[in-house]
Amino acid sequence: MSLSVKVLGAIVAALLASSVATGLDTNSSFDVLDYIDPLIGTANGGHSFAGATLPFGMAKAVADTLGENQAGFAYDTTYVSGLSHMHDSGTGGSPSLGNFPIFVHPGCPDDALDRCTWQQSDRATAWTQGSPKARPGYFGIALQNGVRAEMTVTNHSALYRFTFTNATTQTFSPVVLVDLMDLPQSRTNGTASVDPSTGRLTGNGTFNPSFGIGSYDLHFCVDFKGASVRDTGVWSNNRAGQGQTTISLTSDGSNTAATLSAGSFTRFSAPTNQTLMARVGVSFISVEQACSNAEKEQPDFDFPGTVSAAEAAWRDKLNVFHVEAGNVSSDLQKVFWSGMYRAMISPQDYTGENPLWQSDEPYYDSYYCIWDSFRGVHQLLTLADPLSQSRMMRSLVDVYRHEGYLPDCRMSLCKGYTQGGSNADVLLSEALLKNVSDIDWATAYEAVVKDAEIEPANWNVEGRGGLTSWKTLNYIPTDDFDPYGVGLHTRSISRTVEYAYNDFCIAQMAQRLGHQSDYEKYIQRATNWQNMFKDDQKSYLGGVDTNFTGFPQPRYPNGTWGYQDPIFCSPLLNFTSCYLNADGHETYEGSAWLYSFFVPQDMAALVTRLGGPQTFTSRLSYLHDSGLLYVGDEQAFLTVFQFHYSGRPALSTERAHYYIPSQFNTSVSGIPGNDDGGAMGAFAVLSMMGLFPVHGQDVYLINPPFFEEVIIQNKETGKVATIRNLNFDPTYKSIYIQSATRDGQAWTKNWITHDFFTQGGVLELELGPTESSWGTHDEDLPPSMST
Ligand SMILES: *[C@@H]1O[C@H](CO)[C@@H](O)[C@H](O)[C@H]1NC(C)=O
Ligand SMILES: *[C@@H]1O[C@H](CO)[C@@H](O)[C@H](O)[C@H]1NC(C)=O
Ligand SMILES: *[C@@H]1O[C@H](CO)[C@@H](O)[C@H](O)[C@H]1NC(C)=O
Ligand SMILES: *[C@@H]1O[C@H](CO)[C@@H](O)[C@H](O)[C@H]1NC(C)=O
Ligand SMILES: *[C@@H]1O[C@H](CO)[C@@H](O)[C@H](O)[C@H]1NC(C)=O
Ligand SMILES: *[C@@H]1O[C@H](CO)[C@@H](O)[C@H](O)[C@H]1NC(C)=O
Ligand SMILES: *[C@@H]1O[C@H](CO)[C@@H](O)[C@H](O)[C@H]1NC(C)=O
Ligand SMILES: *[C@@H]1O[C@H](CO)[C@@H](O)[C@H](O)[C@H]1NC(C)=O
Ligand SMILES: *[C@@H]1O[C@H](CO)[C@@H](O)[C@H](O)[C@H]1NC(C)=O
Ligand SMILES: *[C@@H]1O[C@H](CO)[C@@H](O)[C@H](O)[C@H]1NC(C)=O
Ligand SMILES: *[C@@H]1O[C@H](CO)[C@@H](O)[C@H](O)[C@H]1NC(C)=O
Ligand SMILES: *[C@@H]1O[C@H](CO)[C@@H](O)[C@H](O)[C@H]1NC(C)=O
Repeated sequence: MSLSVKVLGAIVAALLASSVATGLDTNSSFDVLDYIDPLIGTANGGHSFAGATLPFGMAKAVADTLGENQAGFAYDTTYVSGLSHMHDSGTGGSPSLGNFPIFVHPGCPDDALDRCTWQQSDRATAWTQGSPKARPGYFGIALQNGVRAEMTVTNHSALYRFTFTNATTQTFSPVVLVDLMDLPQSRTNGTASVDPSTGRLTGNGTFNPSFGIGSYDLHFCVDFKGASVRDTGVWSNNRAGQGQTTISLTSDGSNTAATLSAGSFTRFSAPTNQTLMARVGVSFISVEQACSNAEKEQPDFDFPGTVSAAEAAWRDKLNVFHVEAGNVSSDLQKVFWSGMYRAMISPQDYTGENPLWQSDEPYYDSYYCIWDSFRGVHQLLTLADPLSQSRMMRSLVDVYRHEGYLPDCRMSLCKGYTQGGSNADVLLSEALLKNVSDIDWATAYEAVVKDAEIEPANWNVEGRGGLTSWKTLNYIPTDDFDPYGVGLHTRSISRTVEYAYNDFCIAQMAQRLGHQSDYEKYIQRATNWQNMFKDDQKSYLGGVDTNFTGFPQPRYPNGTWGYQDPIFCSPLLNFTSCYLNADGHETYEGSAWLYSFFVPQDMAALVTRLGGPQTFTSRLSYLHDSGLLYVGDEQAFLTVFQFHYSGRPALSTERAHYYIPSQFNTSVSGIPGNDDGGAMGAFAVLSMMGLFPVHGQDVYLINPPFFEEVIIQNKETGKVATIRNLNFDPTYKSIYIQSATRDGQAWTKNWITHDFFTQGGVLELELGPTESSWGTHDEDLPPSMST
């Protein structure tokens, strides 16, 4: 086929235009929102939030499905049981929030209220496959009961637009019910009311957090527009009655959907134009504040206006990154931008909504969990949104001020479970090194030192356990004697390596803040990983010696070694045996093989201990090739890039391409594990932008971006950092750095520091089809504490 020159020219121009994926350019036809698909990771256990939210917004509206519903909606489901206004994104265990769902019947059979279905599972209606439409700030879905539900949000309220597509075939008199329910079915007390004159539905409930202890109170307020009120009432036990205005419930202790499902309702005359709007305000403070949040934030029930405002907020957040795609597929661009979007859903900004203490500091919630987010999410936010990163770190310090400890996990105003170390220490240390602004460093330092020194009464939810052993034996013993606090006496290996890294991070802070003797104490404790490292431990796979020797192993208080098969809790052996429960083992959600690489503070010492660079390189390759590694758990992230420490940065780059897009792509099941508050998204973005941050340190490992060029504007300094590939090949045959320059000067180190971003500059990477000697020499390697 031959095309005229003119047509060909137009095609080339169009191709060029579409390859200019400009974030910074307001002048282009590129719209970053076209590259965001909130449905990525909503099937197969990804648990990504698919619905409408503002960046870090409290209100998060989506349709809640039956079965999988950790984030409300899951793509691999059949029924929708309600629409609710608050969610968490990407969580692992039990579903979160989803309080006070509303549900709409176009009418009741024979116009009889009791012939409508009310309770959660009875009322559930199938959703139309293919109907969900998701964009930043918008979610829409068609339900088989003839209702098309669309939703958008402001920071503290949701706006729903119901369109009735099948209204003429039955008594068209829509009933909107609210249910005093949440997704984990945790409600104890609750009250639902209705105002018979306006149809306004209000109420409250007491609920439990999804991965923590305690309870929280939440309040709601629903107003309507578009139809006149016909009658109102309350319902319970699948029966509804007109006239009554309030229903109050206490839990009978059984907590089943049937016993918990109850609420109030408003029935409407047929809407004149087939559309009914519902506006839902939420608040942790009071019903009054729930109502005023909604009234203030969307006085006009302006659906398109609210969508546009949400879109503008998202463009503003994302436009600090700019990608010159260089003919890379739009799918890969979607992986990048959608990942960045998901990393900005949580933590949620609940400032002004915290009933627990009075403070002028910001209050963020749903650090869910820091064990996940310390490995990528906050590093990305430090680059993309330093102001939010600062507010989040301030909020952590304020939690310490008022609750006595930094959290390792926190949701719904409650303390969440600690999975390993006190990893807020890592976040604060890194924030100090990267000059994150406005943080009270004296108090932050006090907080991390408390983590390291004072064992809390319940170290399942804050601080660390086994601190006496930590200070005297210099490791966390298996079967520890610890009468000083309570907590799960498991995970001795993974807690040891994490505590050692936490102490390294504290040492960095001590040094920077001028606490020299503390520095010496914590830098010493940062070597404690060595005390659980059994040098002669072998590892067999299918009875065959892997020929790699030396693994962390259980160790009793008397110094004697125990044994846990180094491959135990990898995908190759009892993969799911190391969760957070009483039957847990000595490593958390991973194998001793995996944890043998967790020494970010001193990779040089680790490389030596494992037999030198060559053995280390083949051992790390073996981890990735043998099936021992599951990249869907966050501890895997750093191992993709640790080849930099044995002088083989090219192999890190190969591994990044090995996992992206094969494990991170645009399908609804396009992430390997739970997104964990955007952790998988952040990993994809940081890998694809080329500079991969080592959490807790001022170090970025250099790899070529997946695009011709990535530009990042620092929102505080306005400075622009450009990472540019020369000889870029969008088919990724030439992915090896041959040479590099920073601002025109040769750059031979395989890493770079954060001043590149704060001060701006250009890093040019010349690519070729084979590994070169760039970045491979001892003096090119990233820093380690022993070198
Ligand atoms: C818009 O883009 C065109 C073509 O790239 C360029 O010539 C023009 O200067 C730009 N305008 C502004 C205001 O940046
Ligand atoms: C339309 O309404 C009729 C009568 O209520 C019902 O049988 C049918 O399932 C509805 N169809 C859809 C697509 O909702
Ligand atoms: C929503 O909250 C964020 C802070 O998290 C704030 O920057 C933004 O201005 C708020 N949006 C509106 C419309 O008030
Ligand atoms: C529930 O209400 C009862 C009776 O009003 C009260 O005694 C109890 O403390 C409440 N429980 C919770 C968890 O709020
Ligand atoms: C919920 O509302 C009822 C009725 O207004 C009130 O008695 C109760 O104290 C409220 N509960 C909470 C936790 O706010
Ligand atoms: C239909 O009613 C809704 C809700 O009141 C309103 O937002 C919308 O503009 C109306 N549409 C038309 C076409 O009148
Ligand atoms: C992208 O494609 C255009 C048109 O085929 C071509 O001119 C250009 O060189 C390509 N750019 C890269 C980086 O491959
Ligand atoms: C380990 O070394 C032995 C002896 O050289 C060899 O037979 C075996 O295949 C090696 N194991 C692996 C996994 O390569
Ligand atoms: C050390 O303690 C372990 C676990 O209690 C025990 O099995 C072992 O025999 C003890 N070793 C010595 C030398 O006492
Ligand atoms: C490991 O898995 C096997 C087979 O599924 C099971 O029989 C065994 O009890 C598990 N072991 C542990 C320690 O969980
Ligand atoms: C997309 O990612 C998922 C999850 O990691 C993976 O199972 C699937 O094979 C990938 N699909 C493609 C086409 O690579
Ligand atoms: C942080 O501030 C210190 C002291 O002002 C300065 O020396 C350092 O270069 C800054 N670091 C970054 C990453 O900007």
